[in-house]
Amino acid sequence: MAILVTGGAGYIGSHTVVQLIDSGFDVIIIDNFINSTPEVLNRIHTITSKKIKCYNIDLLEKDKLKKVFSENNIEAVIHFAGLKAVGESVKRPLYYYHNNITSTLVLCEMMKEYNVKKLVFSSSATVYGSTENVPLKENSPLGATNPYGWTKLMLEQIFSDLHTSDSEWSIALLRYFNPVGAHESGLIGEDPSGVPNNLTPYITQVAVGKLSKVHVFGNDYDTEDGTGVRDYIHVADLANGHLKALDKVLTNPGINAYNLGAGKGYSVLAIIKTFEKVSGINIPYEITGRRPGDIAVSYADPTKARQELGWVAERTLEDMLRDSWNWQVKNKNGYNKS
Ligand code: NAD
Ligand code: UFG
Repeated sequence: MAILVTGGAGYIGSHTVVQLIDSGFDVIIIDNFINSTPEVLNRIHTITSKKIKCYNIDLLEKDKLKKVFSENNIEAVIHFAGLKAVGESVKRPLYYYHNNITSTLVLCEMMKEYNVKKLVFSSSATVYGSTENVPLKENSPLGATNPYGWTKLMLEQIFSDLHTSDSEWSIALLRYFNPVGAHESGLIGEDPSGVPNNLTPYITQVAVGKLSKVHVFGNDYDTEDGTGVRDYIHVADLANGHLKALDKVLTNPGINAYNLGAGKGYSVLAIIKTFEKVSGINIPYEITGRRPGDIAVSYADPTKARQELGWVAERTLEDMLRDSWNWQVKNKNGYNKS
């Protein structure tokens, strides 16, 4: 029996694939490389010494997806594939709704047809409608402010309806907070195309000399130093959360949402200072205006994942930033380009 990993060549998917292989699972990847590269597969091979079966297909292509299900004995699916850029989703809503939602409907239809009813899904902390009350719990109010966020919230609803219609489905909705870091080898990591939107890859690109300074988006929030506070989680801890959730869906039917976060918030300035400490490199920065749509503070209450999955985030902020830096140094221009 194999685990099908959609989007397995992506940032979080690739780290999860490595841990699945290390834990003895047979893994099959589906990825159309719209936001990744086949080079990732070579890197996973180097780390694990295993060749992985990968189908270069778009999840929207039903006939090709059917072939994957008919050729393999699939036990469960971990579904990472999707587009994730908030700003782009505002500009291209139909593209986002089609790619993220329609593809998931096609996937679920196929899973149903082949009686594969175990699913781990990449949701996001962005489904929390209000961050007035932190830490965020799984039963905090939900909502979305952009098409990307709506795709996650709508898909959570679709999975809930699916489970209501057929209680044999077993589904884990994993609400990630802010994934950072990379595999300790520096062979796989986050490789954003163009100028990074997220803070950590932006900092590492300043450190490596590709960008001149960090723009800190506002220092007038109601936080300790005025800058935005987030719950950063090492991608290896996040990947481990998928293995724990997989174990749960393989053994218990039901649908459950879990926060995957460290349960602690760090400000933008704290991230910059900690990065300087672990890398020994000075990071020039400038305080600019707030980024539209940003919130002041977001961090998780990860108690449910600890109690029900036996999962906790183990790595420190220093670990996260050291590993991000190690990846950036070894891959100045990302995959393929160094
Ligand atoms: P990523 O872009 O690195 O990985 C997604 C992968 O899916 C890519 O390899 C891409 O090529 C593939 N893909 C996209 N659409 C596809 C399609 N139609 N058919 C086949 N493959 C397709 O992103 P990531 O950071 O690894 O995120 C994985 C998942 O986690 C996404 O669903 C994302 O929305 C979610 N998530 C990410 C974050 C984050 O900050 N990275 C936070 C919360 C949730
Ligand atoms: N920030 C800067 N400068 C930058 C980039 C970010 O000051 O160049 C700040 C932001 O204002 C925020 C913090 O750094 O306070 C973190 O920003 P990120 O863009 O790294 O992360 P976000 O929390 O804004 O976004 C993440 C995911 C989104 C998801 C959102 C909510 O990237 O996909 O969490 O869950 F929608």
